[in-house]
Amino acid sequence: MAEMRETAWAKLNLTLDVLGKRPDGYHELCMVMQSVALSDTVTIRQGGAGISVRSNLEFLPTGPTNLAASAAIRLCEAAGRDWNGLEIVLDKKIPVCAGLAGGSSDAAAVLRGLNRELGLNYSLQELARIGEQVGSDVPYCVYGSTMLARGRGEVLTPLPPLPWCYVVLCKPRYSISTPELFRRIDGVRLTCRPDTAGMEEALQAGDLAGAARRMYNVFEDVLPRPVGTAVAEIKRTLIEAGALGACMSGTGPTVFGLFETLDRAWDACTTLRKVHKETFLTVTL
Ligand code: C5P
Repeated sequence: MAEMRETAWAKLNLTLDVLGKRPDGYHELCMVMQSVALSDTVTIRQGGAGISVRSNLEFLPTGPTNLAASAAIRLCEAAGRDWNGLEIVLDKKIPVCAGLAGGSSDAAAVLRGLNRELGLNYSLQELARIGEQVGSDVPYCVYGSTMLARGRGEVLTPLPPLPWCYVVLCKPRYSISTPELFRRIDGVRLTCRPDTAGMEEALQAGDLAGAARRMYNVFEDVLPRPVGTAVAEIKRTLIEAGALGACMSGTGPTVFGLFETLDRAWDACTTLRKVHKETFLTVTL
């Protein structure tokens, strides 16, 4: 196998709704997902024993608990191939534990790249099915672009893309436990939900402002105090800087804003970066 390289794009939730708890312990979700240009680079080569993961972030798992390694193992198992001697190198730019599906996107990149390099000829649909076993966001990340995701996150319907725009992403320092946020949401009656149908209509119409106005994430209502305060402050800063809309992505804590012009996005990014080191300016894909 020659060395292979694949790009792993970050995802944003334009909407995120939790419809209920399922008998399998997961939650029924309804989300509009969008890829952005902020990305990791995933390289796979032959080397070492077993399967190993290296990255520019020393705290990431280096063994099979890393989603990238888990994806390689699942794919090789499905294809009846040996996964011994695979080395995965992650050049991480997407913030970790941030609600941007960084780990899931790395896993999806491994599925696409290995599928190609090993000549397995699985379709994207088949790769998404294998990805389901790795994590709920992996099937979406196999495809990327703009999608409606339902079920655990694996029931995907393509949507017209969000009109091209600038995106400022800001991850406050706090970490949030995804299972803990799902438990919190189980304990409340949600009164505010995203208008998913309205979002779909705005996308159909190519209406960026309409889509930005309809962005909403139900997890914003159940955030523990310090995170909730930081998220609200970042949203305010983005809107005051001229964002068409701002929203938290996934289970957070990253907040993003959509901008029509580069100068406003640049100003927002500069202002937020003074307080939050992990602030990025990117564009939609
Ligand atoms: O599938 P994944 O491993 O990414 O999910 C991480 C955690 O998020 C799960 O253990 C579960 O607590 C929660 N989750 C959920 N319902 C979903 C997706 C994730 O409850 N649809």
